[in-house]
Formats: sequence, C-alpha cells, structure tokens
Amino acid sequence: MIVLGIESSCDETGVAVYDTAAGLRAHTLYSQVAMHADYGGVVPELASRDHVRKLVPLVRECLAQAGLQLSDIDGVAYTAGPGLVGALLVGAAAGRALAFALEVPAIGVHHMEGHLLAPLLEENAPQPPFVALLVSGGHSQLVDVRGIGDYQLLGETLDDAAGEAFDKTAKLMGLPYPGGPHLARLAGEGRPGVFTFSRPMTDRPGLDFSFSGLKTQVLLAWQQSDQSAQTRADIARGFEEAVTDTLAIKCERALVQTGRRALVVAGGVGANRRLRARLDELAQRRGVAVCFPRPEFCTDNGAMIAFAGALRLQAGQYEDAAIRVRPRWEMAGLSPLATGGDSGMGIGDS
Ligand code: KG4
Ligand code: ZN
Repeated sequence: MIVLGIESSCDETGVAVYDTAAGLRAHTLYSQVAMHADYGGVVPELASRDHVRKLVPLVRECLAQAGLQLSDIDGVAYTAGPGLVGALLVGAAAGRALAFALEVPAIGVHHMEGHLLAPLLEENAPQPPFVALLVSGGHSQLVDVRGIGDYQLLGETLDDAAGEAFDKTAKLMGLPYPGGPHLARLAGEGRPGVFTFSRPMTDRPGLDFSFSGLKTQVLLAWQQSDQSAQTRADIARGFEEAVTDTLAIKCERALVQTGRRALVVAGGVGANRRLRARLDELAQRRGVAVCFPRPEFCTDNGAMIAFAGALRLQAGQYEDAAIRVRPRWEMAGLSPLATGGDSGMGIGDS
C-alpha cells in the first residue's frame, strides 16, 4: 500500500510517500523558520498562508522523487492535530481533497503518535512494548507503548515542554529563534560545572516534569553575570546538562516502573546530542535497547505522518470525507491498532 503523508501542524510543511512493502520512498520538507524568525516565534496566520503556498509543489516534488504518479497512491494521511488550527486545516483540506479525487481512503493522524512512531522508521527498531520519551516544542511526555495506538501516559510536564524551555531560555539570553538548536550549539562551547542548575522534580517520586523554574534560575544567573560570550556558553552548558539529566533520570524510573526493555526517543529535543549520549549511557548501563530517529525525523516531518497513517490505513482504519481537525487532542484517547476490518479511528467521534 502506497500512502502519501502530509504534515502541516506548525511551521514545517512535510510530505512523504511510505510504501508498506518497500518502506519510505521519498520525503520533502519546507521549513518556515526564516519567515517566523523576524517575529521571534511562529505567527499562526503566516504559517497557514505559507502551507497553502508550499504544499502542492512539495507533493509534486515528493512524488517525482519517488518516481510515482498521483494515480499510484492508495491512501492519504494528514496531521489532524494537535497544532495550529489554520495550519492543520491546510493539510487536512488538501489531504481530503486528494483522497476524494483519487477515490482512496484517508485518515487524520495524531501528530504526537507520528513523532512516537518515527523511531520505527529506522533499521533494527524495537517493536512494542517499549517506553517512549516524547520531547518536542509543545510536549514532554513519558508513554508506556503497549502496542501501536495503545498508549498509557506515565508522566508529563506540568508547565513548559522541554523544547519550549530550550527556546525560552535561549531567548532570554538573546539567542535567535528557534532557540533550541542555537542553545545546544552554544552549550558545546560551554565549560562543565561553571553553572549548576537544579534537576527539577527528581527529588520526589513520580514521572512528571517541570521546566519553568529552571528557566527562572537561568534568568537570574544571566542577569547577575558579566553577560560575556563565554558566560553565555557556560550557562547554556549548565542548562542543557540539567534538562538532559532530568529527562534521563525520569526515563530510567519509567523503565524500572514498567519493566520494559526498550526506550524510544522522539520529538525535536530528541535531536539533542547530549540527550542522545546521556540516554545511550543509561541504556548500556541497564542493558536495554535505545532507539532514536535520525535527527531530521526528530523534528516535524511528513515521513512520520505517512508511516503512522499507513499502519492505520493498512489495518482498515479510515474516516469519512469531512475535513476535521483537533487543535487539542489527547493521545491516550487513540484506539489501539485494529487487525483488520473497517474500524474508524474516529477523530470526529469524541
Ligand atoms: O517536534 P518539533 O519539531 O515540533 C513540535 O512538535 O513542537 O520540536 C521542536 C522543538 C523546538 O522547541 C526546538 O527548539 C527543539 O525542538 N529542538 C532542540 C534541538 N533541535 C530542536 N532542542 C534542543 N536541542 C536540539 N538540538
Ligand atoms: Zn512536532
């Protein structure tokens, strides 16, 4: 089955073709980062308009890369939420229209399920059950993945998401948008141990996170410092170590609590090198497997949507032709993957 996937939930337009027999055939991505940089963050209306401009050319380019025609597509998957409503509507409308014209089934995919399943695009990826750490700009969650679509939330952030904490911390030290990757690069030049920040909520049981206090600690340290380039790098280093350490401590707890033997990491912060090294070390020490998507599939992309959609379409799940999106959408409410037959995943059912 050949599935076209469309991602348009925020500031990246992503398109991909996933073939359930041959794997990922092609993927194309357009990032709006340069456009939003002038404003210091994503401007929703500009994001929607740019998705409108870029989506159709990207679909054409992706099909050409895969050596396919529109008529080869057997199904369409698009991100139906969570995300910016206008941006989501662009992908959903295009996906639905395409499926209607081609007379093929289409399905709305949960963006975070896309992230969560992205590691499975890699070779030798573990199969469920496993623990997943989802760390993006909008979410920080630990999830017990009992099967595809069968997700139990183990812990989540009580305030800022990990990526959001990176972005806000970078901003308060004057780094350009998007701050996460900039701050991570700067941390590489920072000296260890010059600034030590707390590991929030690791002193008590539980798997929830909280990162907003850390941001305040950084703000105070920055305001009271000489604000030199080296100091900025040293603070970035201290901050990155605090966040990655905290995430690793909670991952270890989640592995112990669930008894799972594999950890998968997904979402934009999953591209962070220190986090990857820290979790590699943890996995080795505990004798469990750890799996990361390649960095380009950690951040938003069409491949994860094509893949997640293909699994559900292949299992016979699809929805009627209405264009529905859900800007807010709990992942725990998804249905476990059916093993056949027509069982609508039902984003409109709830
Ligand atoms: O998953 P994603 O592309 O979009 C959302 O669904 O939110 O994640 C974007 C987030 C941003 O907050 C960005 O700053 C962060 O991931 N990020 C990073 C790195 N690369 C992206 N944070 C830390 N280190 C990185 N290397
Ligand atoms: Zn995302």
